[in-house]
Amino acid sequence: MMHLILADAELEIVPQAIQGHPAVVKHAKSRKKRPSNLLLDATYHHQAIRSKYGAEAERRGRPDIVHFFLMNAQESILNREGKLRVYVHTRNNDVVFISPETRLPKSYPRFVGLMENLFHNGAVPNAEEPLLYLEKMSLKSLVDSIGKPAIVLSEKGARKNVWNYNIPEDITVIIGGFPSGDFLSNVSFADEIISIHDSTLMAWVAAYEIISRYESLYLR
Ligand SMILES: C[S@@+](CC[C@H](N)C(=O)[O-])C[C@H]1O[C@@H](n2cnc3c(N)ncnc32)[C@H](O)[C@@H]1O
Repeated sequence: MMHLILADAELEIVPQAIQGHPAVVKHAKSRKKRPSNLLLDATYHHQAIRSKYGAEAERRGRPDIVHFFLMNAQESILNREGKLRVYVHTRNNDVVFISPETRLPKSYPRFVGLMENLFHNGAVPNAEEPLLYLEKMSLKSLVDSIGKPAIVLSEKGARKNVWNYNIPEDITVIIGGFPSGDFLSNVSFADEIISIHDSTLMAWVAAYEIISRYESLYLR
């Protein structure tokens, strides 16, 4: 089984400090929602983010990365064959647990609505039989609870050829869910930190490559 974690993902509700910013208020009105129920999205809230978060502004508010990542992972052959578990860990140590049979909306606005619902209610469609649910947990605690060796994918890691990399069958793989910069979480606990290309890849491409390699080794 491969456990795949998108870590330090830039997925969060609009922080209280910028809920009153005109760009956020305008967007909330157009969505007929309260700012406190809105997902932070750089496409709409970049000015608000810049007004408060300076150097961090370039990485915050990126639910689109989570959407692309989940489309790749959840729809993969590996998941259909029952050998993949997917988690999204956020910058605020919220962890989204996703059941393997979950089919997420292809439409980005619908995906955003689903995530807002999840942050508001803690589970969707309901707490009794959730397809997705939230728990407060650090990255390290999540990895410990899974209980498998962990590999971090990072452009700063030891360079490996992904096509002949011998990934163990029982493994947790960690990929950064942010557009630039480095992991916010301490990932030094990992058993290995590897780079799979000389360039910086998008998170969903890194996910796809490691899933494909795993499939080539363990799906018959
Ligand atoms: C857009 S990158 C984030 C940029 C960041 N400078 C970095 O690589 O840490 C998103 C994630 O994709 C993965 N990634 C990107 N390029 C990679 C590479 N060459 N080798 C391995 N993983 C990579 C890493 O997990 C990274 O955190």
